Amino acid sequence: MCGIVGYIGPREAYPIIITGLKRQEYRGYDSTGVALINRDGLQVYKKKGKVAELEETLLGKPLSAHIGIGHTRWATHGEPSDRNAHPHTSASGKLAMIHNGIIENYGQLKQELLNKGYTFTSDTDTEVLLNFIEEIKKNNKCSLEEAIRIALKRVAGAYVILVLDADNPDTIIAARKGSPLVIGIGKGEHFLGSDATPMIEYTKEVVYVNDYEVAIVKADELILKNLGNERQTLYITKLDMELAAIEKGGYDHFMLKEIFEQPHTIYDCLRGRLDAKAGTITMKGVQDNIEQLINANRIIIVACGTSWHAGLIAEYVIEELCRIPVEVEYASEFRYRNPIVNKGDVVIAISQSGETADTLVAIEKAKENGAIIFGIVNVVGSSIARISHAGAYTHAGPEIGVASTKAFTAQLAVLTMMALKIAKEKGTITEEYYSKLLFELEDVPEKVESLLKNADEIKTIAEKYKGASDALFLGRGYNFPVALEGALKLKEISYIHAEGYPAAEMKHGPIALVDENLPVVFVATKDAYHAKIVSNIQEIKARKGKVIAIISEGDEVIPGMADDVFVVPPADEIIAPMISVIPLQLLSYYIGVAKGCDVDKPRNLAKSVTVE
Ligand code: AGP
Ligand code: GLU
Repeated sequence: MCGIVGYIGPREAYPIIITGLKRQEYRGYDSTGVALINRDGLQVYKKKGKVAELEETLLGKPLSAHIGIGHTRWATHGEPSDRNAHPHTSASGKLAMIHNGIIENYGQLKQELLNKGYTFTSDTDTEVLLNFIEEIKKNNKCSLEEAIRIALKRVAGAYVILVLDADNPDTIIAARKGSPLVIGIGKGEHFLGSDATPMIEYTKEVVYVNDYEVAIVKADELILKNLGNERQTLYITKLDMELAAIEKGGYDHFMLKEIFEQPHTIYDCLRGRLDAKAGTITMKGVQDNIEQLINANRIIIVACGTSWHAGLIAEYVIEELCRIPVEVEYASEFRYRNPIVNKGDVVIAISQSGETADTLVAIEKAKENGAIIFGIVNVVGSSIARISHAGAYTHAGPEIGVASTKAFTAQLAVLTMMALKIAKEKGTITEEYYSKLLFELEDVPEKVESLLKNADEIKTIAEKYKGASDALFLGRGYNFPVALEGALKLKEISYIHAEGYPAAEMKHGPIALVDENLPVVFVATKDAYHAKIVSNIQEIKARKGKVIAIISEGDEVIPGMADDVFVVPPADEIIAPMISVIPLQLLSYYIGVAKGCDVDKPRNLAKSVTVE
């Protein structure tokens, strides 16, 4: 994700742009930049870091202009840096562009341009697209608008682009596919944004640009066309939100927004990698190290918190599919004991922030011992990403809520694709099961979308149990780590003491805790353990415990036993955790809200624990 802002009209553009960037910084904050056109021509200012840092460096600069664009980056191609910051300028220096999204075929386009003698100042896919547009404009001797339409017909991936042309200082050209673009309509002025926050105090009349549309934006005219150069009707809608709400996309909290983003973020994680129809998984980091991976004597996973839970699920999946021994270590423990790490061992580091000190030091230690470090990280260019030998980004976008939600399901998606790719290469999975799992993985965003429609059922359950002082979360097999994750979510969001356990482990002590006041959450989706977990539910009911069960569609046994159930779409047990965790995220959120907790910034916690 990233934040984009544009303005054209009688007002000073820079204050509108810089304020709009600050309001959209939740969408990305690796680097930021602005481009303006004034009587001195095209001015581009950009740097790594937050908007406020850029603003500081611009004090005293010639910023007066009535047309401009701005960008806050969430890096996907090229680490956060000054040179990778947007806006990018074309080879001629005449065009400036900002981009939100991923150009999946940028490698091919880049090669074509290199063959024509182009050079590049950044590592981004954005600069490639901009020079591809300029090359077409030059070659075809056509307008910028036409060149953009021709170029976008060859682009695979997602984009919102805003383009300035120094030779046409009265027009912003924008286009979108897959990433959001809102255009605000004022009197003799227009505003552009990833969301409506940059324009909210100036106009409530907006146009939401559709996929494959190109917008030609002048101060007093807005034209929409499709890629076939046909005029499109403007559908003007009225904003009824206030500024404060919009930064959270209309949700009450970032955590809820991020829970509901998961159909999109899981899709983004799979996009460009998983092709179920072709039976392929494209992961450069895995492919480049495939020999070490398939021949690894064992795989060590190091992580903390929620990422550690993702690692536990990965242990079950990798051992099942790849038949490679896996050890999952709390990074904080791993780094202080004298672990046996041999040359050629593969260490997978899982981290949303990529800055967790315990995980960082743990892999530095493993690297010293000759292990290959594979980083699964959400923040591009973060420390863990930089010291890993290879890796895969989760592409979940900025996760603002302290409690990790969308990053967790994205981690599971990446880890599952990685295990499937290794198993395929190693020949430890049948063609039939491999294909089944690819299609099941592809269906996850839709299944998550469908279960989120019933979120209010979880809200009702949360109301019922918000007064509990303790809770147990139980699961078996792949759902055991999901139970641990559910307990962590409840603990950190509502401050209710909660523990996760393997369901069968209850009889070895913890069942002594059970009485009529204790809610026990079972992650009981249909799998090989279902009959056993039914017995575990009976054991709890026999002791008057309150049972909340997450069950699969079609389960006719558990509804008659549990006090409350929440139904999720069925899925193979390897895929199920990405789905069964969602109601647990919602349960902790709604209980936290019902208790008046600060669910985005829970007490005592930080989003990234950069201390040991
Ligand atoms: C998860 O909800 C917590 N915020 C915390 O456990 C987190 O998962 C842990 O600190 C690890 O963070 P990382 O993924 O950024 O390394
Ligand atoms: N893919 C572009 C880059 O990495 C844009 C990323 C974004 O959406 O911020 O610079």
